[in-house]
Order: sequence, then structure tokens, then C-alpha cells
Amino acid sequence: MVNTQVELSGVTLSNPIIPASGTFGFGYEFAELYDINMLGSFSFKGTTKEPRFGNPTPRIAECTAGMINSVGLQNPGVEKVISEELPKLSKCFHKPVIANISGFSVEEYAYCCELIDKEEQVGIIEVNVSCPNVHNGGMSFGTSPEAAAEVTRAVKKVTTKPVYIKLSPNVTDIVSIAKACEEAGADGISMINTLMGMRIDLKTKRPVIANKMGGFSGSAIFPVAVRMVYQVYDAVKIPIIGMGGVTTAEDVIELMLAGATAVQVGAANLVNPFACKDIIEDLPRVMEKYQITNLKDIIGGAHK
Ligand code: FUM
Repeated sequence: MVNTQVELSGVTLSNPIIPASGTFGFGYEFAELYDINMLGSFSFKGTTKEPRFGNPTPRIAECTAGMINSVGLQNPGVEKVISEELPKLSKCFHKPVIANISGFSVEEYAYCCELIDKEEQVGIIEVNVSCPNVHNGGMSFGTSPEAAAEVTRAVKKVTTKPVYIKLSPNVTDIVSIAKACEEAGADGISMINTLMGMRIDLKTKRPVIANKMGGFSGSAIFPVAVRMVYQVYDAVKIPIIGMGGVTTAEDVIELMLAGATAVQVGAANLVNPFACKDIIEDLPRVMEKYQITNLKDIIGGAHK
């Protein structure tokens, strides 16, 4: 009998598997396929102050071992998320959920986080300072330690729930940004968001994606995620939610050995809507194979 339970800032998860924001909607779409209460938690679609239609199409480009997206934070806006999406979600998911919040100014991040913090079902707030698909927002707050710290401080001032800052890999020194967020009061780090990528169509000789570039995700980026989680674990004391190209239970264990306390699964949900279910069901077998009885004992194990 193995124990898959982990804890994120006082929130207990029956297992570490969390569908990543933008790959699982607001949950109820997937609840038609299986009982999503088997998940550790899930991170809902990136939410902004105003409703957003998103970027022009095409927004997706296929790649070997991954995909590029440029969705552009399509969402109904924080007020509708609270009045329409969360009530629907609460009917099919009975665990604390992770609220993923994006913004175009520090004030906007704080405004949305203050509202979402009051929602009973929200267990953790994930502040996305790493969306590569919008201008003057998202990633521009996540590429400098000062800007990431400013957002963290503003959000912490108006919230009571644990705040995790979601970081971009599109930087030269992710460690300094993670440390700045920790010093500014972050309760945890989520990492990594997508890597900037681009495809060109040989027939049209034009970029495949209307916005030209987008965020590259999928199994090809997994080694980058492992490397960055390993580096940040060495530098901070707060927990890390690791993500980036996770597709198997073996990947979950590898990312936890690098330093993740819990693991998000992103692009894999778009290829196989049962990806998280499959990983959760396979996890005990893989734990037994590697003689792991208690999953939380392996967190950061590769550093010893
Ligand atoms: O374009 C998007 O909605 C993606 C967001 C993200 O990668 O954070």
C-alpha cells in the first residue's frame, strides 16, 4: 500500500496530480468523461479582470513531441468566473481548486486576486506572470525579479489564501526571480510555463500562428522543466508546483525528485483527455517499482 498524499501550504492533496491552467477549462467539461474528484486539484483557465476573446486564429501549431499555442488568455472575466463558472464547477468538483489569475497591470492582478480569494472553493491562488501570448501583461511581469516581486507584494496585501507565482522559463536566471517572489511573500512557485516557439508553413512561407509566436509545451520541454525545478529548489524554501511536458507517472516522480511537491499536467490533456486519470491510476505501480512507499519522502530527493 503506497501513500500518494502531498501538502501545498496547508492544503492536503490526495495525490500530486493537477491539470494545468488552460488545458482543463473550468473542470466540468472533463467531469462528463470521468470523476474529476480523483485529481489532487486542478488549476482553472487563466482569468483576467475583463472578458477576453483571445488572439486571432490559427492559435495552435503542431510540433514533434509538443505543440505551440497562442490562445491569448481567452476567458469570461473574473466576475463571470465567480458568478457562472465556479458554481458549475462546485457541482462536480468537491476539493479546493487552484485559481489561475493573469493581469495587465499590478492593480489588475490585485483586483482579481482580492475577489477570487473570497471564493470558498479556491484553495490556492496561482498568479500567472508568465503568459507569453499577450502584450503589456503576462510574461512582462515575470521576466524581472523587481516586477515579479511587485506583483507578489500587491497580491499578498489583499489575499488570505496561499499565493503561488507561476514563472516563465523565457529568462536567463529563473532562480533570481523565484527568490525575489519568495522574499516578497509568495507561499510557493509554479513552474515552468511554456517556452517561446514558432513554426513556419512551407507552402505559404508564413508563420503558422496568426500571432506569429506562441508558447511551446509538451514532452519535448520536460528536461528543461526538470533542470529549472532542480535549480529553484536549491534556492528557495517555499514549495514548488512543477510542470512542463509531464506525460507519465515516471515523469511525476522525476520532477518530484528534482524538487516539486506537486505536479501539473498540461499539453498531455489536449492529446488524451484521460491523461491525468491514467497517470493517477499508474502512480502506485510506478511507486512500487521504485520502492517508494510515501511519495512526499522523495521531494527534492535528487539533491541528497
Ligand atoms: O495564451 C494563453 O492563454 C496562455 C497562457 C499561458 O501560457 O499562461
